[in-house]
Amino acid sequence: MNVIVANDYKEMSQTASQMIEEQITEKPDSVLGLATGGTPLGTYHELIKGYHEGRADYSLLSTINLDEYVGLAPEHPQSYRHFMDQHLFRLINIDLENTHIPFGKTEDLEQECSRYEKVIDQIGPPDLQLLGIGENGHIGFNEPGTSFDSETHIVHLTDSTREANARFFESMEDVPTKAITMGIRSILKSRKIILLASGERKAEAILQLIQWELDEQFPASSLKSHDDITLIVDKDAYKKVQRKG
Ligand code: PGA
Repeated sequence: MNVIVANDYKEMSQTASQMIEEQITEKPDSVLGLATGGTPLGTYHELIKGYHEGRADYSLLSTINLDEYVGLAPEHPQSYRHFMDQHLFRLINIDLENTHIPFGKTEDLEQECSRYEKVIDQIGPPDLQLLGIGENGHIGFNEPGTSFDSETHIVHLTDSTREANARFFESMEDVPTKAITMGIRSILKSRKIILLASGERKAEAILQLIQWELDEQFPASSLKSHDDITLIVDKDAYKKVQRKG
């Protein structure tokens, strides 16, 4: 695992965006695996800036996102489709037809999972996958205990995850109870993976990631079986590792 320790969130985001731009320059029709959440927002901001400064052309790019809430239509303000459109896709020259996110408002969830896994195999797998990490080591919506053999599947959101995300909804009842997520095996199909972490809140998870062997109770440890992982963390997120070292 390559580890890059940035001074702060901005430097972490700039380092990640440079790696993404290098990937696109090298292969303009790359497939990027993308994530939602607070962590990648700075990276998306830098990519948009780079687009305006002529550093990358997204016209041939395809993207595959990790997850989506079940029951939310793409235009719902809290859907991950809406998040990606608003924070990246509509602000660069990507063809929206080439952006893939699970469809949350479906009657047939199993069919949607297998459709999405086919998308990953036919359009992807991603040349480069961007990941965040949960405080409990989750990647995508793969919570502790998820099989490392999992492909795209339905997750029942835990109360703690729903509570953590409730701030984005009007009330707790509005928070979806289920999500569709790429599985661990689907994520590991990517050729290269960048995992981002920022802030003291993630320091324990980063310490565990560095220390733990493969263990399904800590989903991010699955990344240790991949041969091209770059961890980009800021100093606060790396604090506990540095203290131990
Ligand atoms: P965050 O979420 O980027 O909002 O911290 C990361 C995650 O839970 O995977």
